[in-house]
Amino acid sequence: MTTRIIATGAYAPGQVITNNDLAKIVDTSDEWITQRTGIKERHISSGDNTSVLAINTAKQLLERAGVEAESVDLIIVASVTPDYGTPSLGCMVQKEIGAVNAVAFDVTAACSGFMFALSIADKYIRTGVYNNAIVIGAETLSKIVDWSDRSTCVLFGDGAGGAFVEKSETDGIIKEEIGTKGELYDILTEGYTSCSNAFNGNESGTDPLWYVNMNGREVFKFATKSVVKSVERVLASADVSPDEIAYVVPHQANVRIVEVISNKLKIPYEKFYMNMDRYGNTSSASIPMALNELNERGLVKRGDKILLTGFGGGMTWGTMLVSW
Ligand code: COA
Repeated sequence: MTTRIIATGAYAPGQVITNNDLAKIVDTSDEWITQRTGIKERHISSGDNTSVLAINTAKQLLERAGVEAESVDLIIVASVTPDYGTPSLGCMVQKEIGAVNAVAFDVTAACSGFMFALSIADKYIRTGVYNNAIVIGAETLSKIVDWSDRSTCVLFGDGAGGAFVEKSETDGIIKEEIGTKGELYDILTEGYTSCSNAFNGNESGTDPLWYVNMNGREVFKFATKSVVKSVERVLASADVSPDEIAYVVPHQANVRIVEVISNKLKIPYEKFYMNMDRYGNTSSASIPMALNELNERGLVKRGDKILLTGFGGGMTWGTMLVSW
């Protein structure tokens, strides 16, 4: 028994912000951003919160999977930018699509979030607890980006992507691993809320650590090292060689990270599916949004071996080998 992706979906807000638009608000240029990251534009919400993006993706997944909302067993949403502390985005999705028989919750693993959520769904399905799941990564990173910090604001975008998965006797998830290295947590943080208790007369207000704070070079090093090792372990445990891989769907952070990973793994660059030029880094939404585009373009066929792999804050990583 395994877990198979039977449908993919994605949703991005309509407003598109180009590198030249950003050059009007911070000291940057299209040339710098393109050379260092490969990003040309990103979608930025003009008011819709993360739940709206997640709900639109969930509706698309139900339609594409041809499944009634009442038949959904499990909803997991990965996000670092939920609307609320509580309720979870999962519960908000459950209400809006009418999945009255499902159980819903969120997971937090930053840009690896979708990989963690899919891994959890796989365990529930593989052990026979549930038959199917909606798994979504959804973010409005625009609300936790400091729009005056050129070193971070050029990198991120808003969006959501997801997969409908169900139990399968044949094709599906072959091998996967998720991992964490908490000792490096402070090289990439966001969303810090301080414990300033108004009762004790402390001042309230937005803490500077609310915004994305990142040591770009350390993150770059971590990303290349952790993804390469993780992919090598997953391929070895499945006894699959790199040349059997039809496509790699990497976390859409930076083309230079992908170049290093491609060289080290000896998997041709052309096999890495990328859309970060149009969406930027959408954190937990990035892998499912790219996977959905790959699928929509009809580039994968049944039985193809695909690798999904990503890294993120925490620090975290996750890799999955899938037979499509
Ligand atoms: N436009 C123009 N110049 C910029 C800039 C921008 N948007 N952002 C930074 N710079 C400047 C810096 O101030 C620095 O100037 P200095 O040399 O005068 O001090 C110079 O460019 C080089 O900065 P540096 O941070 O060393 O660049 P880099 O080559 O490391 O590239 C990143 C920066 C962020 C693109 C790169 O480190 C990276 O991609 N890291 C991984 C980040 C990531 O993937 N994060 C998401 C994790 S999920």
